[in-house]
Amino acid sequence: MSASGSWVEVDRGALTRNIGAIRSRVGNRQILVLVKADGYGHGAVETARTVFAAGADRVGVARLHEGAHLRRSGIEGPVHVLEPFHPDDLAEYARLGLVATVCDLEAARSLSGHGTSGGGPLRAHLKVDTGMARLGFHHERDRERIHSALSLGGVEWEGIFTHFSRSDDDPVATELQIRRFSDLLADLHRAGLRPPIAHAANSAAIFRHPEAHFEMVRPGIAVYGYPPDGVDDAGLEPVLRLRSTVRHLSWKEPGEPVSYGAAWVATRRTRLAVLPLGYGDGFWRGHSNRFEVMINGVFCPQVGRICMDLMMIDVTDVPEVELGDAAWIIGSRPELSAQRLAQNLDTIVYEVLCDLGRRLERVFV
Ligand SMILES: Cc1ncc(COP(=O)(O)O)c(C=O)c1O
Repeated sequence: MSASGSWVEVDRGALTRNIGAIRSRVGNRQILVLVKADGYGHGAVETARTVFAAGADRVGVARLHEGAHLRRSGIEGPVHVLEPFHPDDLAEYARLGLVATVCDLEAARSLSGHGTSGGGPLRAHLKVDTGMARLGFHHERDRERIHSALSLGGVEWEGIFTHFSRSDDDPVATELQIRRFSDLLADLHRAGLRPPIAHAANSAAIFRHPEAHFEMVRPGIAVYGYPPDGVDDAGLEPVLRLRSTVRHLSWKEPGEPVSYGAAWVATRRTRLAVLPLGYGDGFWRGHSNRFEVMINGVFCPQVGRICMDLMMIDVTDVPEVELGDAAWIIGSRPELSAQRLAQNLDTIVYEVLCDLGRRLERVFV
């Protein structure tokens, strides 16, 4: 129970079981769990602690300060920083024992320089662009540069990886990326330069493209309980629930407009509950008048514009409702899924989860 009246519940058991479900798909390959963006909104530190205890091998963040936060909070397992580094930060990578991502030859040279001039070799994974066109050495045009980078001393070249742009919706494009990556790995193997750990698969590829498992997989959204579309036997459970509390109750008369802009008007005598949850908590105003919450087992429409701190719910059809009753906005049942909120606003569930604000306490249960 959080004093603010609204909070995020994170189900450790579900997280643990989701790691088990992924483990059953990938056998003894390593599992690197993405805990960037504060663990996709779930809380990075506790998520990292839980997934390590459940058998994950590594965790990954996007930025250096996210890795530093994990270390300060006592996370000791391998932590990858997946964005490119600034050369000035390499001493910090070394101090914190973080795994660096190398996206071009210049970066490889900085890393090598750091290693050979007294800083000691840092663990690094080289990133390859096979079709995402975002970060990394181009699989073909940069072939020579990849060889040059991996030949540099002063670096512990532990891994090489790529990232899929369409593993959730286009098997042909993904197979092409897998082929490009495999060709490069074969070429590096022949040259004696292939790093021991190749990895490519995000969540969707883990379930749809087992040929992309290589030596390690990198799930994010699957760990948090969301399988790729069309995979019905993934065995994943949503981990996060968003809970609020009835803070105020009143009756409104027919014709009475509710909240800013009078975007909803009562058509009957309406019992209105107010919840302490709004766009200041990362629950977007765009959801106004477009979803239901569950109070005492009854689905109730949210009505009127969502405010910064508050939202209104029509609870006329709840037989008994009292101050302090729980209101479930995101829950384990399909009707309360974060997916429905994403679909309402034509976005992806990642965005709904990541945007839940820091004002909402994360309570691990
Ligand atoms: C490099 C990288 N690998 C893996 C993932 C995990 O993706 P997903 O959450 O779809 O499993 C991400 C997420 O954005 C990523 O950027």
